[in-house]
Amino acid sequence: MIETRGLRKSFRSRAGRETKTVEAVRGVDLTVAEGEIFGFLGPNGAGKTTTLRMLATLIEPDGGEATIAGADLRKTPGEVRRRIGYVAQGGSTWDESTAREELVLQARLYGIGKTEAHQRAVRALDAFQLAEFADRKCKTYSGGQRRRVEIALGIIHEPKIVFLDEPTTGLDPQSRAHMWDEIRRLRTEGMTVFITTHYLDEADALCDRIAIMDHGQVVAEGTPTELKREISGDVVQVGLDVVATPQAAKALDGEAYVRKLETVDEGGLRLYVDEGATAIPQILRRLDQVGLALSSIELHRPSLDDVFLTKTGRSLRES
Ligand SMILES: Nc1ncnc2c1ncn2[C@@H]1O[C@H](COP(=O)(O)OP(=O)(O)O)[C@@H](O)[C@H]1O
Ligand SMILES: [Mg+2]
Repeated sequence: MIETRGLRKSFRSRAGRETKTVEAVRGVDLTVAEGEIFGFLGPNGAGKTTTLRMLATLIEPDGGEATIAGADLRKTPGEVRRRIGYVAQGGSTWDESTAREELVLQARLYGIGKTEAHQRAVRALDAFQLAEFADRKCKTYSGGQRRRVEIALGIIHEPKIVFLDEPTTGLDPQSRAHMWDEIRRLRTEGMTVFITTHYLDEADALCDRIAIMDHGQVVAEGTPTELKREISGDVVQVGLDVVATPQAAKALDGEAYVRKLETVDEGGLRLYVDEGATAIPQILRRLDQVGLALSSIELHRPSLDDVFLTKTGRSLRES
C-alpha cells in the first residue's frame, strides 16, 4: 500500500542573520502492506510528521520516491490525494459547527452529492458513536469525542489508507483505549492505517508493524514481537544512587553473566543478561561484596524501549 525509497526533506529556518538547515527526514525506506496498522514510533522531532506530510502530498520531498495506494507521489500527487485520508495532529474541527455539519461539508468538498453526503454523515456518526451529540457544537465535546469527529472527517471519502498523526496524544487513558478500538475497526473494514506515536505501549498494543524513527531515519522496522525478540535475554534494572552507580558499574562490568551494562541518567544500572532469574542472586552477591546498597532491583523482558535504547543509545521514555 505504501512503498518509499530514500525520502528526504530539509527545512531552512532563519534566526536573525543566521540560516540553519534542519534535516528533518534523511532517507526513509518503508513498506506498508494493505490492511495493516503501521506505526511510526519516535520521540518529538524525529521526523514523523514531516514524513507523513510528504506521504499525504502536503509538502514536497527534496528527494526520494514513493508509491501510495498504487499512485506515484511525485508524478501523480492528485491521484494520491484522492486515495488517502489525513488527520493532522492538531485536528481540524471548528468550534462553532456541529459534527454533522462538519461531516456533510467535508463530504461535499470531496464532490459527493448532497443526499449521499448526508447519508455518509449519518453512517460516520453511528460508526464513531457520535450520534448522541451530532447536532451540538464541536466546542462542547470532550477531547476524545472531538478526535473521533476528526478521524471521521479524515475518512468520509472512504480512502484506502488513512494517515493519523498522533491520534491519541493528550487523551485520557479511557479515551485512548476507545480510540484504539476505533482504529482497529478501521482495519477490520479493510483500511490501511498509518499512525504516528511517541507512546511505547500504543505502538506495542495497537500496531501490526512499526518503524522506529530517530533523527530523521528509520532505525528499526518489524512487528513489535520481532523487534523485541532481537534483544534476546532479560534486562535487570538496579536502583542505585548517583554516587554508588559508577562503583557498581565497575564491580559488575566484566562479570561473565553480564552481556551489556548501561548506566541510567538519574542513577542506577541496566544490565542485559541471558537469564534474569539466575543473574539476580549473583548481582546481589557481587554488590554486597563491594559494600554497595541498592534501592531496588527489577527484572523485565525486553520492551520496545529497550529496542529503542539499543538502536539509539537513549531511552524513549526519558526523551
Ligand atoms: N516547517 C518547518 N520549518 C523548520 N523546521 C521544521 C519544520 N517542520 C519541522 N521542522 C523540524 O524538523 C524536525 C522534525 O520535525 P517533525 O517531523 O515535526 O517531528 P515529529 O513529528 O517526529 O515530532 C524537527 O527538528 C522540527 O523542528
Ligand atoms: Mg509530530
